[in-house]
Amino acid sequence: MHNITVIGTGYVGLVSGTCFAEIGNRIICCDVNKDKIAMLQNGEIPIYEPGLKELVAKNVAENRLFFTSEIGEAIEDSDIIYIAVGTPMAENGEADMRYVKEVAKTIGKHLNTYKIIVNKSTVPVGTGELVRTIVANNRINERVHFDVVSNPEFLREGSAIADCMNMERAVIGATSDKAAKVIAKLHEPLQTKIFITDLQSAEMIKYAANAFLATKISFINAIANLCERVGADVTQVSEGMGMDSRIGGKFLQAGIGYGGSCFPKDTFALAHMADQAGYDFTLLKSVISTNETQPYVMLKKLQDLFGDYAGRRIAVLGLAFKPNTDDMRCAPSLVIIDELVKKGAIVQAYDPIAIPNARALLPAEVAYFDSVEAAVTDCDACLILTEWDEIAGMDLASVRKLLKYPFLVDGRNCFSLQEIYEHGFVYHSVGRPAVLTARSESHPVNY
Ligand code: NAI
Repeated sequence: MHNITVIGTGYVGLVSGTCFAEIGNRIICCDVNKDKIAMLQNGEIPIYEPGLKELVAKNVAENRLFFTSEIGEAIEDSDIIYIAVGTPMAENGEADMRYVKEVAKTIGKHLNTYKIIVNKSTVPVGTGELVRTIVANNRINERVHFDVVSNPEFLREGSAIADCMNMERAVIGATSDKAAKVIAKLHEPLQTKIFITDLQSAEMIKYAANAFLATKISFINAIANLCERVGADVTQVSEGMGMDSRIGGKFLQAGIGYGGSCFPKDTFALAHMADQAGYDFTLLKSVISTNETQPYVMLKKLQDLFGDYAGRRIAVLGLAFKPNTDDMRCAPSLVIIDELVKKGAIVQAYDPIAIPNARALLPAEVAYFDSVEAAVTDCDACLILTEWDEIAGMDLASVRKLLKYPFLVDGRNCFSLQEIYEHGFVYHSVGRPAVLTARSESHPVNY
């Protein structure tokens, strides 16, 4: 059993802190955001993550999980300190390290006994060394020693608990064997593969892994765009490609581009890191630019239906960057809806969970509805942006009836072309042939 303080109680800090508690450690999760801590102390969960509320409640009840905004005290009480604060994108694309630096300073000021300081945040190569220097320079007592470890996080929002409890590997980069062994042992109950390496390589593994996954997404989106021009079906192409174990089928689903709190900022940060190191990472820059143009591919399909969408009423189904999360950070829906509103469309939006977060980021003109049916009613077209089960499983017959025109633009390839044809839609998806002749006996097409 270890006494662990996790600094930064966001998606990563809260989930990994709770999972470390679940495997028997005493965890203090702390944050500068006092409202967040007050919510957690009252049993409320500030984010949507399936299964998290129950697991937090269980570990709080069993006295293994605590929340505080008294960060200094929490540091003094623990032998392992995890840093899990945000590393958002700065204006020039690099990772903004201000929160990590601030935390390192605070740790130094409260370094009362030997501690292992573990970076879980995604940070540029060299950050472990930077944290070491800041802690050393701010130490209250120079005779107190510490070690720095990089233990990057690979969980995915939406399946974060399962990812954490069944992690495929723990990457541990350390300044000392002793610290690496302690962090490896901490992961023992999770029965996962342990990969021990140097600090710099551990930091790079996280960026390289995210950039590689982003590359797969941009690659298949580019193939999808080509499929549309040459008459192939990208869903067939990715299935056929994915059967090759050297390639694998994951992250090969064509769509509207990647979003979220990680891939966009991490690809930018890696490209920036490469620039700083004097390496022109053109491959990665292409991945980024392919991703930035992909939402406009969808918009073009919608625009082609009407000529322009001024005054058109468009239902947008799905706002979060992916299903099972309320995270709206860098969601492609932000770009798409912004553009629609700018061009004069009337947007009727629905998302099962993300509406409160979306309100803060989307233009004020957007109207929100509490069901698929309500959002599509009287719309000129329906645009699918997130493949929530509820949206991918929506009742096509009733949506068809409620829409003013049978236009469906599906950014996530939720439906088979056959079922779409049978329900009488004009349908554009990603990298597949369009269904252009709507069966019209029940609903005359007149636009
Ligand atoms: P987040 O924004 O949800 O949470 C960060 C938290 O840190 C916030 O609650 C903030 O108030 C707190 N914080 C900031 N400065 C602080 C300070 N000085 N002292 C105490 N708390 C402070 O961020 P998220 O998504 O949890 O990401 C954290 C890190 O993990 C980032 O580097 C991210 O790239 C990485 N990561 C995120 C994943 C994700 O799916 N969200 C997955 C894997 C890694």
